[in-house]
Amino acid sequence: MGVQALLKSNSLLQWHPHSVSKAERAGLKSQRPCLLWFTGLSGSGKSTLANRLERRLWEMGKHTYLLDGDNIRHGLNRDLGFSDVDRRENIRRIGEVAKLFIDSGLIVLAAFISPFRQEREQIRTQLDEGEFIEIFVDMPLPVCEARDPKGLYRKARRGELRGFTGIDAPYEAPDAPEIHLSDPAADEAEQTEMILRYLKDNGYL
Ligand code: ADX
Repeated sequence: MGVQALLKSNSLLQWHPHSVSKAERAGLKSQRPCLLWFTGLSGSGKSTLANRLERRLWEMGKHTYLLDGDNIRHGLNRDLGFSDVDRRENIRRIGEVAKLFIDSGLIVLAAFISPFRQEREQIRTQLDEGEFIEIFVDMPLPVCEARDPKGLYRKARRGELRGFTGIDAPYEAPDAPEIHLSDPAADEAEQTEMILRYLKDNGYL
């Protein structure tokens, strides 16, 4: 068996218990950690919304961290492209990072297209009950395409960019997201308040 396989089977590794628990870290911050996972097409407004929400939470004295697709791909995931395999690895790594941040007691916001249902569900299963809050930013493709903030849809339509989500790469919508933002006419302030209401009604805040 090679080193990789051995490590994978965990036979060379042991888990070190920490002397400070997740509950103790969260307790010091007087908050309930969770992962707010924004999924949707490019240009749907995930990042803008996550940013607004983080600012509102900060104003409420909450300890947060925002993980954002475009930024993470400049650093931790700079070696990944947009093939199916790379996108799955992108989301897997973010899931691991988010789990660590939750363990540190933070409220984590993550804004990634995350086009595959299976990877999103995988993150849900690796967290504790109620920690994963899926927010489907359900903006129709024509709206995202009309916005086209980075000009990428235009490039994809001209055939200059292959494998663009919604054009020639798939997006699998969530079956049962905790929060479904489906009104294209709602503005970002209203959507942010909707999410805050969910968090309050369900005992997160
Ligand atoms: S994901 O599919 O792996 O979850 P992620 O959220 O990290 O994607 O990155 C999406 C961002 O990368 C888009 O908002 C866009 O700016 C950029 N991008 C570049 N190429 C592509 C592509 N082929 N498909 C989708 N987004 C792309």
